[in-house]
Amino acid sequence: MDFNLTEEQQLIQKTAREFARIELAPGVVDREEKKIWPKEAIQKMGDLGFMGMMVSEKWNGGGMDAVSYAIAMEEISRVDASAAVVMSVNNSLVCYLLEKFASEELKEKYLKPLAKGEKIGAFSLSEPQSGSDASNMKTIAQLNGDHYIVNGTKNWVTNGINSDYVILFAITTQGIGHKGISAFLVEKGWDGFEPGKPEDKLGIRASDTSELYFDNVRIPIVNRIGEEGQGFKIALATLDGGRIGIASQALGIAQASLDASISYSKERVQFGKPISMQQAVQFKIADMAMEIEAARLLIHKSAMMKDAGQKYGHMASMAKVYASEVAMRASTNCVQIHGGYGYMRESGVERLMRDAKITQIYEGTSEIQRVVIARSLL
Ligand code: CAA
Repeated sequence: MDFNLTEEQQLIQKTAREFARIELAPGVVDREEKKIWPKEAIQKMGDLGFMGMMVSEKWNGGGMDAVSYAIAMEEISRVDASAAVVMSVNNSLVCYLLEKFASEELKEKYLKPLAKGEKIGAFSLSEPQSGSDASNMKTIAQLNGDHYIVNGTKNWVTNGINSDYVILFAITTQGIGHKGISAFLVEKGWDGFEPGKPEDKLGIRASDTSELYFDNVRIPIVNRIGEEGQGFKIALATLDGGRIGIASQALGIAQASLDASISYSKERVQFGKPISMQQAVQFKIADMAMEIEAARLLIHKSAMMKDAGQKYGHMASMAKVYASEVAMRASTNCVQIHGGYGYMRESGVERLMRDAKITQIYEGTSEIQRVVIARSLL
């Protein structure tokens, strides 16, 4: 068993860390306060090959493994969790899905620009009445000649506003549950397709989340991904990989919490010595470091299983539940170590706590991850 990163993985880590320090860190507070989508940074991430990391070179991707992707996600998230979710959705929910399930024609037209970051993708599965119970959707795609006519509303869509292309899941045959769901690629700007207003969120405020409205939208049959009725399985198989991305995002937030806790506790003097000399603080820091290490091992193991072509969904769920709970604990303790200052926006650490929370919710709540883990065992 080799726990060392390969030379290529080390280079990716260094590149992502430098990029985050130089390009993301300077504006991160301003962007989050003003809810500014990180357009320029995303373009640069595309130039670096971070928007389609695991896509094969044939389709303009980086041809990298899932471990490299997890490493890059961690480094970007350590500085800017909003930019990280844009990267995560594009890589694992959109590019991965297209490469694995779409026709060559769709890959040529849509995957190529998405993998280079020239276009941005979104993944729209949830609806107002179907979040965790994802197959209980109402959006309908009715076949009419050489087109489907789509009507319905999707919600909680990351990149809903700033994306160019959207992966849409809709019902093509009613009354047969998940077997009636199909997947499509929809272009922004098509008649009847509009995003809603940006949601006002607790965290990851520089990323956009919105509803999507479909009013008699015509989707050509060629834009269906996979066969009719395969959509739900395509969504779940894709989310397995997405969960590695979100686990890595959580890990980056946890690592940032540890970094900030170490540096502040060495500076802050109380009772005549730095608070890092107090056992109460030391124990918090020790717990953070221990849990972060364990989360990283779970993430890298699930990524390695994915790379090896093994069944990895339950492991990705374990990585996501654990890493997101570690991120929540680490960021809460980081604020605690910072005391009153930590509660102030200017400390920068309350943002970590707000950003951490969503990692326990999106791409499957912690409860749903436990369902996936338990089903794999039972
Ligand atoms: N890969 C492929 N197929 C799978 C699968 C997987 N990982 N897991 C299950 N399936 C198959 C099953 O075998 C079954 O097929 P058959 O009927 O032919 O046997 C079919 O899919 C349905 O499976 P279930 O009966 O297990 O489905 P369910 O309705 O009980 O749901 C669930 C299972 C795990 C709860 C699932 O609904 C789920 O993961 N819910 C959470 C949804 C979610 O993660 N939403 C996130 C939204 S996206 C988001 O957050 C994006 C963003 O913008 C950041």
